[in-house]
Amino acid sequence: MSATILDGKAFAAALRQGLGSFVEALKQDQGLTPGLAVVLVGEDPASQVYVRNKHKSTIEAGMASFEYRLPDTTSQEELEALIDELNAREDVNGILVQLPLPKGLDDRAIIERIRVEKDVDGFHIENVGMLAAGVGKPLIPCTPLGSLLILQDHLGSLSGLNAVVLGRSNIVGKPMAQLLLSQSATVEICHSRTKDLAEHVRRADVLVAAVGRPEMVPGDWIKPGATVIDVGINRIDHPEKPGKSKLVGDVDTASCMQVAGAITPVPGGIGPMTIACLLANTLTATCRQHGLAEPDLLALVRQARGDDA
Ligand code: GUN
Repeated sequence: MSATILDGKAFAAALRQGLGSFVEALKQDQGLTPGLAVVLVGEDPASQVYVRNKHKSTIEAGMASFEYRLPDTTSQEELEALIDELNAREDVNGILVQLPLPKGLDDRAIIERIRVEKDVDGFHIENVGMLAAGVGKPLIPCTPLGSLLILQDHLGSLSGLNAVVLGRSNIVGKPMAQLLLSQSATVEICHSRTKDLAEHVRRADVLVAAVGRPEMVPGDWIKPGATVIDVGINRIDHPEKPGKSKLVGDVDTASCMQVAGAITPVPGGIGPMTIACLLANTLTATCRQHGLAEPDLLALVRQARGDDA
């Protein structure tokens, strides 16, 4: 048996197309163009690539993109002054400060400075708290949100399923666990100190791996038929091509595919969902700021794919 491949690249493309249609209607009906501001401090090469991709996707979805590139000599006060300015601007609905920040800058203070309604990363402590408490309408971190959409699209209800989250980061593991719990899954969070990790993973109907350890989960840990979401993006030396590298996930895709019911590949799985969900959060934030009905993301995807046709 071989698992169904959950094609995150295609799913993200459908989501971006659906968001684009929603944005078009928002412009026509309300005269509103959602705007996303992305702030990059310093010259980290990986961050520069992410920021360029975010800019391109934002424009393609019909939204306004405001990019701020600041030198790594920028002070805390200067960065906070920029956040204050963006907080006050009507044409900026979402603000993202690319992490990590250069040494000497206090990232927590910067994140808390962003208006909670414009925190499209979902990292502000009020968004974190609303998600944890199940109170109000938080903006949800992009990678967990993308993972949940793929799970819901494939499985429908998650109610009563055993879900194991590998990894306890604030960006992925913890919010992922909260989201799965909000969908009435039975949730375990496992991490580097977990004893008998294989035994925990073997009980998982849904496994979300987000530990950043290349191909750490072998196929014989997987429950037959399980749905596997691989959040890992690890660059390793290519096993067959000396001097070359390749991207692998946190699970050993080849062996897990023999046992799982469905699995996200690396690359082309959860990776492309993160930017698509950033755009989704920007649109959701815009609608909330203007008291308008917000998009149903799964419905947008299904419409874009023509599922009902
Ligand atoms: N750097 C790596 N991932 C992220 C992310 O999701 N948000 C921000 N702001 N910075 C990042």
